Amino acid sequence: MTTLPVILLLSGSLRVGSTNEAVLRTARAVAPSVALETVLYDGLAGLPHFNPDDDAEPLPEAVAALRAAIEGAAGVLVCTPEYAGTLPGAFKNLLDWTVGGTEICDKPVAWVNAAAPGRGQGAEATLRTVLGYTGADIVEPACVRITVGRQAVGADGAVADPEVRRQVTEVLRLLAARAAGPA
Ligand SMILES: Cc1cc2nc3c(=O)[nH]c(=O)nc-3n(C[C@H](O)[C@H](O)[C@H](O)COP(=O)(O)O)c2cc1C
Repeated sequence: MTTLPVILLLSGSLRVGSTNEAVLRTARAVAPSVALETVLYDGLAGLPHFNPDDDAEPLPEAVAALRAAIEGAAGVLVCTPEYAGTLPGAFKNLLDWTVGGTEICDKPVAWVNAAAPGRGQGAEATLRTVLGYTGADIVEPACVRITVGRQAVGADGAVADPEVRRQVTEVLRLLAARAAGPA
């Protein structure tokens, strides 16, 4: 049996009906078409506040699970809103927990900015800074804006619009290509 590469999907929003999570749920829906598996991370709300004193063995269970999820993934796709000009605190907290581990180092990572044109640049800029600091391999061509309004989120939490699905599929394809290494 062939094991498909796994893309870890990280949402920065805890909101029910989140447009950012909808992009990731869409990625999950289209992933089989590009021979990928996905894991939608659901531990954001359960992470403890980052404290360097706790960044030691034995790690808090939720942190160990986060790092294991990153370790097990061929690539990571982030979709996060912008709050007050930067990343949501909960998501920055997640990223802080990745700094002390080596799992994200050299890992292909991309983000989709689901905000309307002209919005969300602060979150993107912070993501670039923080992911760069962690040593993640930012897959630039896969870091794109795919605007998703609240009305576009279906009952299944994903986006049905074919153009959005096409663009999300392309993001996954680019991420997986980087994860596979040079052809
Ligand atoms: C507290 C708060 C602060 C926000 N600050 C910004 C901001 O600085 N820039 C921006 O473009 N949008 C801002 N927004 C709008 C959110 O980014 C936007 O509603 C986004 O769609 C939420 O993502 P979600 O649907 O995944 O929850 C803010 C929203 C909230 C609740």
